Amino acid sequence: MYPLVDVFLKPQKRRLISQVNAQPVGQLLEVGVGNGSHLPLYHGHHISGIDTSEGMLAVAARHQQFNVRLLQMNGEALLFRDNQFDYVVLSHVIAVVDNPDQLLQEVFRVLKPQGKLFILNHITPNNWLQYIDRAFLLFSGLLHFKSVFRLGQFPAISRFNLLQETSLQPWGYFKIYTYQKP
Ligand SMILES: C[S@@+](CC[C@H](N)C(=O)[O-])C[C@H]1O[C@@H](n2cnc3c(N)ncnc32)[C@H](O)[C@@H]1O
Repeated sequence: MYPLVDVFLKPQKRRLISQVNAQPVGQLLEVGVGNGSHLPLYHGHHISGIDTSEGMLAVAARHQQFNVRLLQMNGEALLFRDNQFDYVVLSHVIAVVDNPDQLLQEVFRVLKPQGKLFILNHITPNNWLQYIDRAFLLFSGLLHFKSVFRLGQFPAISRFNLLQETSLQPWGYFKIYTYQKP
């Protein structure tokens, strides 16, 4: 199903990556790089793409370029040293990891001071769409993602400063957040 879902998600990822590309060139960590089909969209940055899935990394390797290194690693237990990255990208990954708060703590640790965190994800809104997320709760548990998902429920997010919030179609259900480590 992944390539099918990917077609739907590609325009959002273009928006996300254009925001990342607007930043000065730096060291970028993408957690949960998946099939990596978006990797060629990055310009300039030195990219470390990690994923827990060996199978996904094998697919991502087809899109690997000179500025990309791919590693099998758990985002909740990063093997990088403190203050190493200028940017961290979490694209449709924060709601699928076991412990999003632990992931955010690890991201905070490896980001340099003033480093930026970009999150693209569905965020359960306070309008009628929340009932769809609630209806999917059981189903989403089976597929290992959190359908009812709000960033404010994770204490570690308060360690970052929110710089920008971009609502995406449809109905602003998907959002891009840019945070900065103080
Ligand atoms: C829904 S896919 C998103 C892939 C890609 N970021 C994108 O936007 O297309 C989630 C990816 O995160 C990976 N993943 C899940 N838990 C992880 C973890 N704890 N650490 C690193 N990667 C993880 C999965 O293997 C999968 O490839």
